[in-house]
Parts: sequence; C-alpha cells; structure tokens
Amino acid sequence: MDRRIAKGVNQGVAPVTYGTGDRPPRGDYSRAGADYTCEQDWAAYTDADHDTYRRLYARQLQQLPGRACDEFIAAVQQLGTPDRIPRFDEVSVRLQRATGWRIVGVPGLIPEEAFFALLAARRFPVTDWIRKPEEFDYVVEPDVFHDLFGHVPLLFDPTFADYMQAYGTGGLKASRLDACELLARLYWYTVEFGLIDTGQGLRAYGAGILSSAGELPYSVAAPEPRRVAFDLQRLMRSRYRIDTYQATYFVIDSFRQLFDATAPDFTPVYASVRETISREGEIEAGVVLPGERQFRI
Ligand SMILES: [Fe+2]
Repeated sequence: MDRRIAKGVNQGVAPVTYGTGDRPPRGDYSRAGADYTCEQDWAAYTDADHDTYRRLYARQLQQLPGRACDEFIAAVQQLGTPDRIPRFDEVSVRLQRATGWRIVGVPGLIPEEAFFALLAARRFPVTDWIRKPEEFDYVVEPDVFHDLFGHVPLLFDPTFADYMQAYGTGGLKASRLDACELLARLYWYTVEFGLIDTGQGLRAYGAGILSSAGELPYSVAAPEPRRVAFDLQRLMRSRYRIDTYQATYFVIDSFRQLFDATAPDFTPVYASVRETISREGEIEAGVVLPGERQFRI
C-alpha cells in the first residue's frame, strides 16, 4: 500500500480502501482536497440524476413505516425536498443547528484515517455522485442516495450523533493500534446494518438497510437471518458479508446502550477479542453460539 495514501492524504488519485474488491474506487479524486473532501458540484447533476434520486427516495419512503426506527422517520424530512438531490450546504445548516454536525462532499470511498478524522470533527462525508439508472436496484459502492438518505437522518439524533463522533475518535486510535479490522466490524454491524428493539418490535437504524429496498423488509421480517443481542466483543469476533443480505444482525435496546457500550477505551477490548479469536476463532456470519439470546420475529 502506498504510505501517502495509507496516511489518508489525498494525492489526486483513488485511495486504497478496505473490503471493496479489486476494482479501483469510482469518482474523480483530483477534485478533492488533502482531506479528501470536495465541493458538491450541484450544477453538474442532470435531470436524469435528480429523477433517479426522486424515484429512490419515493420507493424507500413508503417502506419506512413499521420497519425503520422512529428517530429515522422523524428526521428524514430534514433532507429537504424529495424531488431532487439536496444541496449539502442546505442540509448542513439544519444539521448543524440540531447536533453540530455538517455534511461534506467526497468523490467516493476515502481511506479509513481520513474518514475517522472527519467523523471525529463531526463532519460526515457524503459521496456526491448518484448511481446510473441501470444501477437503480443495486450499486456496488455507496452513492449520494446511500450516504445521504441512509446515514444523515440519524445524525439529527443527539445520542447517535455523539456515537458517530466517538467512533471517529476511536478509529484514529485504532489506526495506531492496528485494530481497524475489528473496529470496522462495529461500524458494519451498527451504523450500516444495525437493528433496534422497540416496544413495537424490531426496527432498522443501519444505513445499509435503510437505503436498500430489498434488505429493509428482509432485515426485520424475513425468517432466514439471525438476530442476536448486541454484545461488543461477540460482534468484533464476527465476520460479515459484503455481497449478500446479512446473515446476522445485532440488535440494540437503545442508542444510549450503543453509546455507553462503546464509550470506554477499546485497548483492553481489542486485546481480549484477539485472545478469544486465537483460542476459539472468528464467528462466521449466520452462526449463533450456544445459549446466545436471539430475537424472534
Ligand atoms: Fe454507508
């Protein structure tokens, strides 16, 4: 790996990222600054781009009741009109007022260290390009619809907003401890694919679920996947799949639980997880351990 890129300083070329396959990341990195952020070129969106966003938004919005958590549903309108791709600056004004976060444009996937640094500064990177019409149902890399519709509404929730910042701070530390792979599992199973147990049943709060037309109903209602209670060390032992719906979801009771469980220094946690993995191995997606609490639907 190119060390300059590993340090997270943009050199005008696509970064080496992790878990994304052999293809170079999509996006024009020559547009981005040293911290990988770029101006959203709003004028460059075509009518077809806005139409893709409008159709994705409409399809997903009607699926939210009974499947997405209340905090997400309450905040999704803060994205502004569903008829066209929002201007990041306008969303940021509302977001900053609510929780002190801002969103910033990026050309696509960015290196972990640059990503962590932005989160630690309460800035959420949003890819500014949108998928092509032929990618309507599935796009390999996150686009503006995933990043904005999936991630930004929960940044309006004060507790979740604090969790995201703490994750960024923890990420910078994990980089020094060579523990990014373990920490990435926390992001994957919470921020991207987390479920929350509510008085009305299980609801999705993960952006990977909330921006997917197929996985949203699957995650909360299909009989196939395992749904196990959130446990930090168990989660960090758990492998995940990037090319199918998840075989395992982790279920939290509240965002406060998530924040509290992840607030302490992870240095001893990483040591303990590594020790357990060396003794008992990692846990494959879809595997439930004896005696483990599962949520039934
Ligand atoms: Fe995401």
